[in-house]
Amino acid sequence: MGPRVGGRDCLLLAVTTALVLPMRPPAQPAPKRSPSALLPGPPLPASSWGARIIGGHEVTPHSRPYMASVNFEGQHHCGGFLLQPRWVISAAHCFSHRDPHMGLVVLGAHALNTSEATQQVFSISAAVTHPDYQPTTHASDICLLQLNRSAVLGPAVGLLRLPRRGARPLRAGTRCKVAGWGSVSDFEEPPPGLMEAEVCVLGLDVCNSSWRGQLSPAMLCTRSEDRQRRGFCSADSGGPLVCRNRAHGLVSFSGLWCGDPKTPDVYTQVSAFVTWIWDVVQQGSHGR
Ligand SMILES: *[C@@H]1O[C@H](CO)[C@@H](O)[C@H](O)[C@H]1NC(C)=O
Ligand SMILES: *[C@@H]1O[C@H](CO)[C@@H](O)[C@H](O)[C@H]1NC(C)=O
Ligand SMILES: *[C@@H]1O[C@H](CO)[C@@H](O)[C@H](O)[C@H]1NC(C)=O
Repeated sequence: MGPRVGGRDCLLLAVTTALVLPMRPPAQPAPKRSPSALLPGPPLPASSWGARIIGGHEVTPHSRPYMASVNFEGQHHCGGFLLQPRWVISAAHCFSHRDPHMGLVVLGAHALNTSEATQQVFSISAAVTHPDYQPTTHASDICLLQLNRSAVLGPAVGLLRLPRRGARPLRAGTRCKVAGWGSVSDFEEPPPGLMEAEVCVLGLDVCNSSWRGQLSPAMLCTRSEDRQRRGFCSADSGGPLVCRNRAHGLVSFSGLWCGDPKTPDVYTQVSAFVTWIWDVVQQGSHGR
């Protein structure tokens, strides 16, 4: 099969273009950070600062029924997705400095800060972080949350599938979507509802070079499919990267400037964890 142009896949040409473009001033208010962070330094968690899904749009309410919001003290903290009626998948770093038992999971939401009849709220009875999770490198940044009861599935609450076991990694240029409720901080308004951006898979070797060799194998990167800055930002962490209707990535980290092609967005590559996920779900469903 020859290169496909203008079809379902993104133009690979655009990668090269984006990487050599001089950095333009950010289109969004710049997140505050010490100057040292301007250098591509250690990976930075997507929940540290910033705005929201970059270069995206508000989705039709409840059209992504698998989306979960994890909140602490009423503040949206991270995203996630519903795998099974009692299990949500999120990122491990979301719970690095938090007690999961203090968190709540909200399903069936669109505008988080409104009372919606479709919303279902859960406490977290167990949080299982991957044993190989490394906070410094963000390797194996994945966590399973067992809800205190089963979600009631319906039009606004539904499951998202994992990649097939042993499926080949996605080709560079594959089109995907990343959604989230972005950041709710002291100086940022929450988004009007769930936001989503279209992005393209970026080859891991190219991405690793941009990140100065700091990436681990079970990661997945995306870039904007045009010259607009697109991708995830603060508090989108843990949310799914959906490619061909399956959760192929989990929002893990990006650089200081959200959507900056110099520091492409990095996700946990879900396909590498499928066996572990089902093991935990099976054990949890019997043992707890
Ligand atoms: C939600 O709305 C209430 C009432 O408008 C407001 O006081 C509160 O700060 C909002 N919370 C967030 C997280 O935006
Ligand atoms: C589950 O947690 C939610 C939120 O804390 C609570 O409202 C609900 O009563 C709990 N349900 C059960 C069965 O424990
Ligand atoms: C990224 O590059 C570094 C340095 O070359 C290498 O050690 C590492 O294995 C690479 N990571 C991946 C995922 O290829």
